Amino acid sequence: MSILLEANDISISFGGIHAVQNLSFQVKKGEVLGFIGPNGAGKSTCINLITGVYMPDTGSITFDGVKLTEKHTIRERVHMGMGRTFQTPRPFGNMTVYDNIFTVALQQNSFAAAHEKTKEVLKLTEMEHWADVASAKLPIEMRKWLDLARILANDPKFIMMDEVMAGLNPNEMENSFALIERLNQAGITILFIEHVLRAVVRVCSRVIVINEGRFLAEGEPREVLDRPEVIEAYIGGKRS
Ligand SMILES: Nc1ncnc2c1ncn2[C@@H]1O[C@H](COP(=O)(O)OP(=O)(O)O)[C@@H](O)[C@H]1O
Ligand SMILES: [Mg+2]
Repeated sequence: MSILLEANDISISFGGIHAVQNLSFQVKKGEVLGFIGPNGAGKSTCINLITGVYMPDTGSITFDGVKLTEKHTIRERVHMGMGRTFQTPRPFGNMTVYDNIFTVALQQNSFAAAHEKTKEVLKLTEMEHWADVASAKLPIEMRKWLDLARILANDPKFIMMDEVMAGLNPNEMENSFALIERLNQAGITILFIEHVLRAVVRVCSRVIVINEGRFLAEGEPREVLDRPEVIEAYIGGKRS
């Protein structure tokens, strides 16, 4: 597998807090990579560094062969093929599901192509029957899927999911696993941040564990989660 994203020795501090420290990792093209660690480990900060919300104090990030700089704005990185979910979905409440997706699709497509894209995304996410519903009226699971659908309207090669399983019941979680598998089969590489470790074991082929901003472990999910240093990090840290 070739490398889609490489973080090389990245660090960032906020005041005295070393949120990410000398962290290096790679995301391989086509994989679903679990990215885990206790609360405050620096996972969401890594997404913010990758997507351009922050620039690292040290080190560099290379995406799809391009070394990212300040010139690569958040918007530019979306155009390069990055998508990310937020811990709290933020769809436009007064628009229908269809219009929510269409608005995003229109940013990179003609009117006709944007309609096609919207239909394609509705099909991929199996949200066709929600198309005419106002997004504010959606159940929580479907809000999360709409968040993903809006990302898909931008044709991403890489999606970073930040704790998308939070608040879902087992049945909704199963549906989400199936959706993630469909997206991955459609060729999208996924970085999967998750506190629900059984979800990580289920959907990820590989996992990276960070703790207090630093690299802790990497490997096959089940094997890594059994390592004493990983168990210690979860027990020692704040649990959720
Ligand atoms: N914008 C910010 N300003 C100050 N501190 C921050 C900011 N973003 C993150 N942090 C701190 O960095 C650390 C890592 O946070 P975060 O990346 O959100 O952890 P995780 O997502 O793994 O739970 C925490 O101590 C958090 O409080
Ligand atoms: Mg977080």
